Amino acid sequence: MCGIIGFTGYIDAKEVLLNGLAELEYRGYDSAGIAVCTERGIETFKNVGKVASLRNEIPAEIQSSCGIGHTRWATHGGVTKTNAHPHSCGKVTLIHNGIIENYHELANELAKEGRIAQSQTDTEVAAMLLDSLYTGDPYAAISEAVKRLTGAYAFCILFADQKDVIYCIRKGSPLVACMAEEGAVIASDMVALLRYSKEYFVLPEYNIAKLTKNSIMVTDLYGNTVTPSMLSVNWDMSAAQKNGFKHYMLKEIHEQPESVRLTIRPRIKRENGFVLPDFSEDKIPDDLFMNAGRIIITACGTAMHAGLVGRILIERMLRIPVTVEIASEFRYADPIMDERSLVIVVSQSGETADTLAALRLAKEKGAKTLAIVNVKGSSISREADYCMYTHAGPEIAVASTKAYTAQLAVFYLIALRFAMAAGKLSDKQVSEYMNELEAVPEKIEKILKKRDVIKELSKRLTPASDLFFIGRGLDYALSCEGSIKLKEITYIHSEAYAAGELKHGTLSLITGGTPVIALGTQKDVFPKLISNVKEVRARGAMVILVTNEANDGDEALEKGICAEHLVIPACKDEFAPFLAAVYLQLIAYYTSSYRGLDVDQPRNLAKSVTVE
Ligand code: F6R
Repeated sequence: MCGIIGFTGYIDAKEVLLNGLAELEYRGYDSAGIAVCTERGIETFKNVGKVASLRNEIPAEIQSSCGIGHTRWATHGGVTKTNAHPHSCGKVTLIHNGIIENYHELANELAKEGRIAQSQTDTEVAAMLLDSLYTGDPYAAISEAVKRLTGAYAFCILFADQKDVIYCIRKGSPLVACMAEEGAVIASDMVALLRYSKEYFVLPEYNIAKLTKNSIMVTDLYGNTVTPSMLSVNWDMSAAQKNGFKHYMLKEIHEQPESVRLTIRPRIKRENGFVLPDFSEDKIPDDLFMNAGRIIITACGTAMHAGLVGRILIERMLRIPVTVEIASEFRYADPIMDERSLVIVVSQSGETADTLAALRLAKEKGAKTLAIVNVKGSSISREADYCMYTHAGPEIAVASTKAYTAQLAVFYLIALRFAMAAGKLSDKQVSEYMNELEAVPEKIEKILKKRDVIKELSKRLTPASDLFFIGRGLDYALSCEGSIKLKEITYIHSEAYAAGELKHGTLSLITGGTPVIALGTQKDVFPKLISNVKEVRARGAMVILVTNEANDGDEALEKGICAEHLVIPACKDEFAPFLAAVYLQLIAYYTSSYRGLDVDQPRNLAKSVTVE
C-alpha cells in the first residue's frame, strides 16, 4: 500500500527515485511524486497515473543527489495531483505510507494556528504537524510528532535547512534500508534496494534513521544509538524483473516449480531410506502442535485460501480441530483463545495490517503463534513466536501465484511433520507423501507446457460476465482461490461454491452459456461432483472440468458432460490443489490478457495491504 523510497549519495537522485518507484509500483499506482534537494532548495514534482507519467514532469536539467519518492494507493482523498505525495508545509517535505487515524483532530488543532491543508490527505496534516513542532532539531520534532500521531506510518522527511539529509521513522508500515557505494537508500521493500545491495536492515519501529551520503544512523526516541541486525537476500535483480515474460504474473506462474522446490528443500531429511520433513533449521519444536488444543489459521485473501487447504490437511492427518478465520473479522470477533491455542498466520508480504493485528491479538491472549511468510524480516515474521519462510522470492504481480503454492507446500510439510511426531502416520506413510511432495514441481512443469491449450480455452471465457467455480473438499478450497484470481484481474464477476450447495440458491444464476469451472480432482467425492456438474449442464452451463489423471477412467465421466476437460498429472488426491491451481492461474491470466487489461496492476488494488 504505497511505495516509498529515499536516497542520498553520489549519483543522480532522480534516477534512483524513478527506478525505485518503478520497482515499488506494485504497491500503488494511481499517482506518483518525488521531491529533490537542488541548489534552489527542495523541488517537488508529481503527477497522476503511473510512475512513467511522472518522468515526463521532471525537467531533464534537474540536478540532485538527495530526494524522496512516492507511488500512491489512495486512502484519504481522491486521485489528484494535489493529493499525490510528497506533501510540504513550511520547512518540511515528506512522503508517507500508512494511515494517520487522528488526522481530522490534528487538522482542527493546526487550523487554530492558521495552518490549513491544501489537499484532502492525512499525510499533509502530518507535514503540518511536523513543521509546527520544528525549531531546527529534527529529532525533537519527530519525537514529539510521534507522541501525537495515531495510526500506522512510514515517513521519509526532508527539512529545508538540512541539505541532503533524510530522516525516517516508522510504526506499522515497513521501511528497509541499505548503505551502498552509491549512497544510502531506504524504501518500503527490498526490491527497490536490490540494485545497490543484497544486505539490508529493517528499520525498527519508533526508531529514527538519519541518512547522509556515507552513513545511516539509527537512534531510538531517547537518542540512544541502535544497531539493527543485518539481513540478506539470495536473489538478484533478475528475480525482480520480467525476464522476457510479458507480465510479472506469467513469470511468477512459471517460477512455481522452483519456488516449491526451494520451499521444500531445506525441510527434508533422508533417514533409513525414508524422506521425512524436518524443521530443525526453522527451530520449530514438535510440541508446538502436540500441545495445541485447537489451531486457528488466520490471513487475508489468497493467503487465507492457502489456509483453507491447510485446514483440511492438518485435520485429516493430525486430527486436531482447525478453523480458518479472515483476519479482518477475527481481530474484532473477540475470538476464544488461550495458551493451548496455536494461531498460524499466513502472509506473503508479512505486512498485511489485518493479519498483523490478528497476530498481535493472538499473542496478547497467550496463544502460541506460527507465521508462514515470504518476505524476510517483515513485521509478521519478526513478531510471531515461530516463523517458516516460503522461499518464493519477490512476488511483484498484484495477483498472488507462486506465494500461494509455496504456502501450500509449507502446510503439507506441517501436516506431515506433526502427524509423524504424533504417531498418526508412520515414517513409511509420511515418506510416501513426501515423495509425492517432491514430485510436485515436475508435475507443475507438465501443466505449464499446456499453456497454449489454456490460452485457447480462455478465449471462450473472455466475453463472460459471471463465472462459477465449484468443487468439494480440497477442490472447494481451491475454488475459492480460482475465483479470487479470476475476478481480481479479469473483472469478471465470479463466485466459488461448494458444489453441493448450489441447489440451495445459486443454481438460479446458472443460465444458458454461464461458464462453470468444476474441480473434480478428489476421488471420494467425484461421483457427487459429477452429479452437480449434470445439474448445471441441465441448465445450459458451459462446463470446464478439471480432473486428476489418477482417477480418470471413472465411469461418471461421460462424453459430452463438459465443454472442456483439463487433466492434472496423476497424484495422490491431497496434492491436487497444487496442480489444479496452476490451471486456474493460467485461465485468469489469459482471460485478463484477452480482455486487454492490466494484468499485473488491476484497478483499485495494491499488492501489500498495510491499511485496515
Ligand atoms: C490476491 C492477493 C491478495 C493477498 C492478500 C494478503 O491475489 O494477492 O488477496 O493474498 O492481500 O496479502 P499477504 O499475503 O501479503 O498478507
